[in-house]
Amino acid sequence: MRFLYNILIVAAISMSAYGQEIAIDKALFNEGDSQEWKTPSFDDSSWKTLEVTRLWDDQGVAPDTRFGWYRFHIDMPSNMLQSSDLQEVVAFDLGMVDDCDEAYFNGKLIGKTGLMPGEMGDITNTFDIPRNYTVSAKDVNWDGENVLAVRCYSGGAPGGMFGGPVKVTVPGLVEAADISFSQAKVKGKDGVEVTLKSRYPATISGKLNVVVTDFENGKVVAEVTKNVKVNDVRSEKLFIPYNKSRRVDVKATFDEKNSGKSLSVAHVPHYILTPAAPASPRFNTAPIYGVRPGSPIHYRFGVSGERPMHFSSTDLPKGLAIDPYNGALRGSLEDRGSYTFTVTAKNAAGEASQEFTIKVGDRIGLTPPMGWNSWNCWGLSVSQDKVLSSAKALIDNGLADYGYAYVNIDDGWEAEKRNPEGTIAVNSKFPDMKGLGDWLHDEGLKFGIYSSPGDLTCGGYLGSLDHEAQDADSYNEWGIDYLKYDWCGYRRKHETEPDRETTASYIRPYLLMQEHLRRQPRDIFYSLCQYGMGDVWKWGEMIDANSWRTTGDISDRWDSVYDIGFVEQADLYPYAAPGGWNDPDMLVVGKVGWSSNLRDSRLTVDEQYTHISLWALMAANMMIGCDLAQLDDFTLSLLCNNEVNAVNQDVLGKQAKRDVKDGDLQIWSRPLSDGSVAVGIFNLGNGVMEVDLNNYLKILNIDNPLGIRDLWRQQDLALNDTKYKLPSHGVKLIKVKK
Ligand code: GLA
Repeated sequence: MRFLYNILIVAAISMSAYGQEIAIDKALFNEGDSQEWKTPSFDDSSWKTLEVTRLWDDQGVAPDTRFGWYRFHIDMPSNMLQSSDLQEVVAFDLGMVDDCDEAYFNGKLIGKTGLMPGEMGDITNTFDIPRNYTVSAKDVNWDGENVLAVRCYSGGAPGGMFGGPVKVTVPGLVEAADISFSQAKVKGKDGVEVTLKSRYPATISGKLNVVVTDFENGKVVAEVTKNVKVNDVRSEKLFIPYNKSRRVDVKATFDEKNSGKSLSVAHVPHYILTPAAPASPRFNTAPIYGVRPGSPIHYRFGVSGERPMHFSSTDLPKGLAIDPYNGALRGSLEDRGSYTFTVTAKNAAGEASQEFTIKVGDRIGLTPPMGWNSWNCWGLSVSQDKVLSSAKALIDNGLADYGYAYVNIDDGWEAEKRNPEGTIAVNSKFPDMKGLGDWLHDEGLKFGIYSSPGDLTCGGYLGSLDHEAQDADSYNEWGIDYLKYDWCGYRRKHETEPDRETTASYIRPYLLMQEHLRRQPRDIFYSLCQYGMGDVWKWGEMIDANSWRTTGDISDRWDSVYDIGFVEQADLYPYAAPGGWNDPDMLVVGKVGWSSNLRDSRLTVDEQYTHISLWALMAANMMIGCDLAQLDDFTLSLLCNNEVNAVNQDVLGKQAKRDVKDGDLQIWSRPLSDGSVAVGIFNLGNGVMEVDLNNYLKILNIDNPLGIRDLWRQQDLALNDTKYKLPSHGVKLIKVKK
């Protein structure tokens, strides 16, 4: 029997770049959880066979399955070991696991990703992290059977192993080389630090060479070579300064002496295109704001420049007041209409004024919401302290000066049980919701929260089902200005509804909450989150929602940003307008992690420029998803380019249309209120691309460009300067005057 399993699960032994590789695409599988299942001798002959390349939900396993184990019986031929010039370790590439896993080899734990229930932190969003584990070659039963057992936990459907066959290799010397890059500053100079170490307990030696090349002119701007000897404890670091305002390519090559083999790794370090803001006051936000009659106004004029700054207005409508120190506008206006006034900001370096209009009527959210949400960084480990620290950083880092105003708590704030009278209770991580709301409002910021029309949220916390009126009342008491209402747990109820195939069934739970929200004596931005079901963009506006998620959850990987941005949004431009926006999910720049473990976004620097440029063009909700208390200068420069943000916030409110899709080239354009057009030229391919704008002017409906401005650099380009060199996954964002 055992022999049969081996045939069944060992799909292929082949030669990889560095020797033999075993690739396995099936395993024995059982739902449930038992520590016995890691034991090699455990009798799994009654287990079923499952593919490891596809999630378990796709293979008949019940979607609410939490635990499942995969077991692999692997014959390891000793010639695999002999083909390696290192013979130290055996490497397992398990693909990915939704959500977390522990892997045991011959009964011994060899790796773990994510946290299991009951552990400190949470389980979410480790699903797209590749699992690469190793064992010592000594622990392998060569020319005999070995058992790899993988314990998986799914925090919610889908679940299981996916992303490729399990691969087993015996790495060689050069594969031990681990080259990584980080941003560094030495003696005031910006640079990139290249680190070489050994991944395995082995010494490797040879020559490390780093070449830095300017992207625009192809010139080598720095080159360093060093003889190195490293192991898994002792690493070698090379610091190479470069001019951070230019895009450079860094290539590190390690020539391993004993094997005669080489490893090359390429990297693009941070480059900052956004010019520094002047010291004198500069208004950075849209000059309009919508509010309902009588609703309290919480607004902060977004003005960059040195502090202290003084804010004033001589023609402020009656009922409003400006805080002279932080620029917060307070008060309310009872009568419908447009109220225009001028605000002046003054500091030691100068003074600036801007005309501003408040539109009192039925519409709020006249430009896409800008702010911060806890989900992409903290996931379910969010706490009041963490929210407050990001809110403070929003002010201290100057993000509030660019219009980022919402501070939104996502899932994870709710208690396990409602209060006896049915009102929603908070968990111990949120001791004072009202206090948090008051603090934010004093700063002119806004307060957002999350719930679900279902009994439970996506994270398994309490939803609002059957308590919609009470929850809307609580939100009012706490001073909530934004509700993200996430379908998730409602799925179970929806499945039992006779009209579940109809649009009406999708609308129903959202309309119900809308009625309760709109009854509150304050404006609550209503953000639907149901991943685009029932073509939500066609009816979101009808139920007075202010934005609607059009996609599943974003992650900090190129394929996610690519699918969500460049594939799924292309046809949605007709559905966005002031007051109601398509929401392609939150930003994934900066430090994210969906848990208490944060990491730098896995998007490349060029991909991050593309992400922000496309979201600006799409009039998307600009909700920052990273920890603002740990913001680097590059991320700040991405988020605080007033000319790029002005595209997102343009008062015409037109979402960009994709005009050109030509192989790896896409061009999206968006008409702006000043008669010009914002154009994003994107290279979605893997190589460098040269694009001549002239070839596309006709398609873009631009007969005769009167001016071209590079928005990231904030520089006018010569009219004949239309040939752009775009890096892989990079963008040129321009504004063309017609
Ligand atoms: C869903 C949403 C996410 C986040 C989580 C919270 O997955 O799409 O944006 O709100 O739920 O559990």
